[in-house]
Amino acid sequence: MARIRISSTIITLLVMVQTGFLLFMYARYNSFTPHSEEKSSQVHILILSSWRSGSSFVGQLFSQHPSVFYLMEPAWHVWVTMYQNSAKVLHMAVRDLVRSVFLCDMSVFDAYMPWKRNLSDLFQWAVSRALCSAPACDSFQRTDITSEMACKTLCGRYPFSKVEEACKTYSHVVIKEVRFFDLKVLYPLLTDPSLNLKIIHLVRDPRAVVKSREQSVKALARDNGIVLSTNGTKVEDSKYKVMQEICRSHVQIYETATLKPPSFLKDRYLMIRFEDLVRDPLSEISEMYKFADLSLTPTLKSWVYNITHGQGPGKKKEAFKITSRDAVNVSQAWRNVLSFQKIKKIQEVCKGAINMLGYQLVDSEKEQRDLSLDLVLPRRQNQFSWSSFNPKN
Ligand SMILES: *[C@@H]1O[C@H](CO)[C@@H](O)[C@H](O)[C@H]1NC(C)=O
Ligand SMILES: *[C@@H]1O[C@H](CO)[C@@H](O)[C@H](O)[C@H]1NC(C)=O
Ligand SMILES: *[C@@H]1O[C@H](CO)[C@@H](O)[C@H](O)[C@H]1NC(C)=O
Ligand SMILES: *[C@@H]1O[C@H](CO)[C@@H](O)[C@H](O)[C@H]1NC(C)=O
Repeated sequence: MARIRISSTIITLLVMVQTGFLLFMYARYNSFTPHSEEKSSQVHILILSSWRSGSSFVGQLFSQHPSVFYLMEPAWHVWVTMYQNSAKVLHMAVRDLVRSVFLCDMSVFDAYMPWKRNLSDLFQWAVSRALCSAPACDSFQRTDITSEMACKTLCGRYPFSKVEEACKTYSHVVIKEVRFFDLKVLYPLLTDPSLNLKIIHLVRDPRAVVKSREQSVKALARDNGIVLSTNGTKVEDSKYKVMQEICRSHVQIYETATLKPPSFLKDRYLMIRFEDLVRDPLSEISEMYKFADLSLTPTLKSWVYNITHGQGPGKKKEAFKITSRDAVNVSQAWRNVLSFQKIKKIQEVCKGAINMLGYQLVDSEKEQRDLSLDLVLPRRQNQFSWSSFNPKN
């Protein structure tokens, strides 16, 4: 009996020691192995838009935030280097570049830039407040609102290595891109455990986009060629083939994200209409910041107030002229400027997008010119909601 009692005590002891050991090992294992669902501590925001849709303005709303490292159109380098390819073929290279930039690995630019390079060799570098302030450039504070012009004169000579150095010091990396035409291309980034990707899909009334595109026909010609896969030939979009492709892509992205979204898109997709932003900037900006886990600082609030009320230093001369008054006016300008013939043609190729994004078609020139007729339907009218959605797979 005594012998059995001793051995059961020993066994109990051994079991306890073993359990303790296993618990210890488990804790150790967990502390060294990240959970697969655990996302990076940095937040990565992709502003997904297309040409002439107000994305530079939205980019600035993020770029000027002191917690944000922002790059505008880094994939411009991919398209310029491989201009004989189609947008579809370049999707993967663009995605790879975007992924590397999110991870602050700027060696990805080796493929697209001269070996010896400056900060200023990066496309549109001076619109990034992060590249105009410490540690990238000593001329401005991180909390400053920087202007492209002042930055260009003061910060251009810094070495390219500053881009990576600066990026690593921020909690948020934000990239604006117009070169994605398919949401599924981004799935690998959304499921990548080293990324914490959120997508802001910025759209604008296609008729207003066409009006704006007509003002920069030459600047868009090369990109048009890539969208239409013309092997390097520049094209004007006189038949709205590029617009058709842009509209198709907005429908594809919006539908994919809202009708039957994969579970990894939950809380990671936000659609914003430029018209709503122009009509009620502070509310839309607050929504975007909340989505991005950013807070509105007093300086930013004052700056936003200034740029939406045509006040402050620089006034209308600054890079984006978005005084609330002007912007609402500008967003309706297509109704006076474009012919009804053109509008009919654009509505033909973009009907699906116009309907899906909550804009109203016009049936006559009278309707087009009658500005008392609001063609922007109330936002979030029949917005998709996760609470009413029951994912089956
Ligand atoms: C950097 O920029 C300065 C001024 O534009 C120029 O003199 C210098 O050669 C550039 N360096 C490189 C490596 O491109
Ligand atoms: C594309 O253009 C290049 C040079 O302009 C030419 O060599 C090549 O054959 C063209 N490719 C196709 C598929 O037309
Ligand atoms: C906004 O405008 C006021 C008045 O011009 C100016 O004093 C202030 O510095 C501006 N704020 C920002 C953040 O630019
Ligand atoms: C837009 O601006 C023009 C010229 O500045 C003005 O005549 C027109 O009344 C404005 N329209 C609206 C809707 O504010």
